[in-house]
This record gives sequence, C-alpha cells and structure tokens, in this order.
Amino acid sequence: MSGDVEFPMNGGDGANSYSKNSRYQVEAVNVVTEMIKEAIAKKQYFAAGVPGSFYGRLFPKSSIHLMYSSFALQWLSKVPEELLDNGSLTWNKGKIHYTIASKEIADVYAAQFAKDMDTFFNARADEIIVGGMMILIMPGFADGVQYSQDPSCPFFYAFNQSLLDMVKLGMINEDEVDSFNLPLYATSPKEMAKLVERNGCFNIERMEVSNTRPQNDGPPIVPAILTHYRVGLEGIFTKHFGSKIVDELFERTLNKSAEISSMLESSCVEGAQLFLVLKRK
Ligand SMILES: C[S@@+](CC[C@H](N)C(=O)[O-])C[C@H]1O[C@@H](n2cnc3c(N)ncnc32)[C@H](O)[C@@H]1O
Repeated sequence: MSGDVEFPMNGGDGANSYSKNSRYQVEAVNVVTEMIKEAIAKKQYFAAGVPGSFYGRLFPKSSIHLMYSSFALQWLSKVPEELLDNGSLTWNKGKIHYTIASKEIADVYAAQFAKDMDTFFNARADEIIVGGMMILIMPGFADGVQYSQDPSCPFFYAFNQSLLDMVKLGMINEDEVDSFNLPLYATSPKEMAKLVERNGCFNIERMEVSNTRPQNDGPPIVPAILTHYRVGLEGIFTKHFGSKIVDELFERTLNKSAEISSMLESSCVEGAQLFLVLKRK
C-alpha cells in the first residue's frame, strides 16, 4: 500500500535501498510471526496489493477478511500545521521531532495520530467484513515509558544537531530547520485502546508490546541503524532541504555515532513495538 504516498522509502536494490536495509523490520516481523499464526486459526485467502494512501479507502466495501499492516502506521498523514505556527507554544522552532521537544509539541503529534487512526479505522471498517481481522505492527512502547526514551530519539537528536551545525556553517537556513518536522509517531497500548474504543468499529482481540530485535542480538549497531534511517528518511529530507545536503547530513550524523550509542543506553530499546489484533464488530 505505498503507491502514490507522501513518504516513500528509498526504491531499487542499491546500497541505500529499503530492500537491502530492512533487516530490522524482517526480524521484528519474525518476532511476532508465531503470534500472527496463533491469531489466524485457519485462513484460505487471496492476497492483494493496491496503490494509494491507507488514510483513504483502498478496497471494495466488505471485501476483506484479514488485513495486515507492518511498520507503516507510524507515518502520520501529514505534518500537523500547529508545529509551524510561528511564535506560538506549539511552534517547533529548531527541532525536527516531538521526542526531542516539549510536551506541547508531543500533544500536537498525539492529536494528529488520533485523527489519523480514526480515519484509518473508518476506512478499514468499510472494507473488512463483520468478524474480519486486522493485524497491526507498529512502533510502540509499554504504558508509562516516556517519549524521550523512544530509541529513535537519539537518532532524531543527532540529525537535528547535524542540521543546526549546518545552519551555523551557512549551508542551510535557520528557517528551513524551523519549518521541518518528521511526521512519525510511536504509540502505547493505553493510547491505542482509547483510540480503538472511541472509534467503535473494532474490538481488541490481542494487544501487546514486543521486541523489535531477537533477545540475543547484542547492542544496537549505530551505523547500521543509521542506514536504515537513511532509506526511510532520505526522501523527506531531500524534499525539504534539497538533494545537495543529504550526503553531508548523514555523514555528520554518522560522526555522532558515539553520542548516539551513549544516549541509546538510557533508551527503551526493548519492547519498542506494538502488536495488535482487532476484530471488526
Ligand atoms: C518502513 S516501510 C514498511 C514496509 C513494509 N510494510 C515492511 O514491513 O517492511 C513504511 C511504508 O509505509 C508507506 N506509507 C507511509 N505512509 C503511507 C500512507 N499514508 N499510505 C500508504 N502507505 C504509506 C511508506 O511508503 C513505506 O512503504
């Protein structure tokens, strides 16, 4: 479901492509494969892929028995406008994400996520038959984990610092950083339960926080993870700042690997994804 969408991953099969750099996503899906098998007791099925945004209708009415989405719902439908409201409390000046910003900014992201999930649930509710299932895997945390403990935070912080360094060197303008925000969000079971309930079209059959990586995988390898970020974020950075700065931005961020590693030590690297099975009422 990624035809004509705002936020495409890097295509092709080159060194910086999504297909060559999605080991973590594959491992994360492997971790929950058994849970998925348990959730689907028995299913002959036709699989279908269509272009278009999942924030709109994609399939005919009441045509879907099982819907599956992995690592896609963290993408908001858009950057919330309040973040660009110059001078207001919700103006995200000099910052590129809520994980490194104030609570007001995090609230703006949460409100956008709530709207988006409602739109998503309504579209899927039209498409999924009564009794049909929806399986979602997305970035998420146990209730009570602070958003600053998101393991993406050290990476977003380092990207942010690299951009500010580049402002100081006159390579980009301050305004360009002020007006850039990553439309990415990670949720919690409590927040998700509230959104599902408020929407009213689905029952929660199962929901749990699970690990994105196998237990014995050792400490996170920052340069490898940075390449994963590059395949997902290069497009959005390029669109805003232009293609000329992208190599410089990733090079500078790579040079902050030691700082990222040390920040990751206080991050919540375990249990950083939400697994959710919903049933259409
Ligand atoms: C990290 S990739 C995950 C791809 C795949 N599901 C996996 O697990 O490897 C996120 C995908 O979501 C797509 N995406 C983001 N926003 C979308 C939207 N509103 N509608 C459809 N696809 C979207 C992106 O283009 C990208 O292909």
